[in-house]
Amino acid sequence: MNTQELIRKIPKAELHLHIEGSLEPELMFEIARRNRIPIRFKSVEEVRAAYSFHNLQSFLDIYYEGAKVLMVEQDFYDLTRAYLLRCKEDHVVHTEIFFDPQTHTQRGVPFETVFKGIHRALEDGQKEWGMTSKLILCFLRHLSEEDAFQTLREAIPFKKHIVAVGLDSSEVGHPPSKFKRVFEAALAEGFLAVAHAGEEGPPSYIHEALDLLHVKRIDHGVRSIEDAQLFERIVSSRIPLTVCPLSNVKLKVFQKLSDHNLRKLLDAGACVTVNSDDPAYFGGYMNQNFLETASALGLGPGEIRKLAENSFEGSFLSDAEKQGWIKKIREMN
Ligand code: ADE
Ligand code: ZN
Repeated sequence: MNTQELIRKIPKAELHLHIEGSLEPELMFEIARRNRIPIRFKSVEEVRAAYSFHNLQSFLDIYYEGAKVLMVEQDFYDLTRAYLLRCKEDHVVHTEIFFDPQTHTQRGVPFETVFKGIHRALEDGQKEWGMTSKLILCFLRHLSEEDAFQTLREAIPFKKHIVAVGLDSSEVGHPPSKFKRVFEAALAEGFLAVAHAGEEGPPSYIHEALDLLHVKRIDHGVRSIEDAQLFERIVSSRIPLTVCPLSNVKLKVFQKLSDHNLRKLLDAGACVTVNSDDPAYFGGYMNQNFLETASALGLGPGEIRKLAENSFEGSFLSDAEKQGWIKKIREMN
């Protein structure tokens, strides 16, 4: 089997995916029409043409604008359903999905509406083709600590269906320490923790995420390598780094894919995984990320297998489930 075929066939888990970032322009228009929400673009092509970013913030501005069409439970169902069908195509058998409740509650859409639509789609995916999934609630770090506490309170009735809390949105200027007390409260409620850190922000943010928020994974974390001691800690403790190659190029974290440090991180022994982040905005779902990265960095079958194994190792599946998938990968020839 050549590398491309292996990429398409190997079972994979996705650990870094914002469900709002999987809203394709076609679905955006359809949902906007049925909710009678005006959008400033005339066509799908015009929307796609606007997806040219120079940093994280320039993307976030348009991402929050796009999410404004989502109003009722069915919208969240359709959004999630469309993403899961793409997973099926790419042989992503397990996914751990971020959702941003504040993006919606701030507009008057109840937490429950968002949760129920996403959750029902996840249940259907499980029933129909055995797709497994977990949900991760992300706090928007540009908003206040009090706002995050309010969101945590709203999540409590649904906590058995939400595995972890996370931290996303504008990184620089909003260090993890701003949310130390919220994460403490979330951990006390039984949630696990993850956080975006070291995407644009410095290695000190990764230190804070580990030591103050007690995260189990670092989302992105590509700047961890700038701090030798920190990186050694990440390698030796196998803290997963959920890396998103196409996203990093679109948001100019790296100027081109061949400049990406994924291979360096992987070769140094870090538990690196490949993910799509916001695929509707960044030009590709899981397999596209694998294919383009393999081609740009010269990854072969050995590296692809390692990345796929890492995706299960780094997941929040049970040890037995992880081992089951890793065994399947090792038996593939
Ligand atoms: N929200 C959606 N995608 C994000 C990213 N890549 N970084 C921070 N916040 C996000
Ligand atoms: Zn992200």
